[in-house]
Amino acid sequence: MKIFHNQTELSSHVDGLKADGSSIGFVPTMGALHNGHLSLVEKGLHDNAFVVVSIFVNPTQFDNKEDLVKYPRTLNADVSLLRTVSDTNIVVYAPTVEDIYNNNVQSQSFTFDGLEHEMEGAFREGHFDGVGTIVKRLFEIVKPDRAYFGEKDFQQLQIIKKLVELHNIPVKVIGCPIHRAKDGLAMSSRNSRLTKDHRNVAPFIYKTLKSAKNKFGTKSAQKVTEWVEEQFKQQPLLELEYFIIADTETLKPVKRKSTKKTYRAFIAVYAGDIRLIDNIALN
Ligand code: PAF
Repeated sequence: MKIFHNQTELSSHVDGLKADGSSIGFVPTMGALHNGHLSLVEKGLHDNAFVVVSIFVNPTQFDNKEDLVKYPRTLNADVSLLRTVSDTNIVVYAPTVEDIYNNNVQSQSFTFDGLEHEMEGAFREGHFDGVGTIVKRLFEIVKPDRAYFGEKDFQQLQIIKKLVELHNIPVKVIGCPIHRAKDGLAMSSRNSRLTKDHRNVAPFIYKTLKSAKNKFGTKSAQKVTEWVEEQFKQQPLLELEYFIIADTETLKPVKRKSTKKTYRAFIAVYAGDIRLIDNIALN
């Protein structure tokens, strides 16, 4: 497996593959890979000759310094895991902060037609400027034909689609279903940092989302939201940050349901100091 830490070398390798007529899929990650990431890589290999996996903990998208410092960095284990999928058709790009930011670790400022103000944008200041900055940069370096993002970060997926549209970036962005543990917990690199007690209680998040979906069939968004808030008050190990039912396209909270629209419920929860997010399609 080819592993590059430098963008010039990575770009020239990928240019060579493209010159031979190979299509390139791209899976951007922050490492600490799990089966959710592998499912994106497998989909990428199904659709393309080669898949570039970037592994880079992007400092500009963290609003919390401690979260950045504690974010798991497990490059050797990540590479071993990728090898179980393919040793020949995966290319790893694991740059240094300097290679990406060249001593100027700052985000560009973006607007995404208002998508950036909702939910994660409201609760994590500057987060989507950081995501936009790194993903645009990586698209310029890798120049993939297709890029794969998990629906666990559904708002991020919608924002990347908007980034590509507004900046005319020639890449097809493909959203992939959320990968879950057997007990329903959405897979996340952060799960590895949960204590045993928090890990045991964390499936409550998806269980509650599924019940909220059932209730949304007959109840208003406000009533469902109140019900969810009540459930979390009875769960001392989990602290609800937000539960929002939003329009799938605009991500704006729903005021009155319309049969012509589709909705999704979004949730952010603290399990100790670990922040977990999840979402579910409602109709
Ligand atoms: O979803 C992630 O892991 C990150 O936000 C991404 C897309 C790799 C950008 O750093």
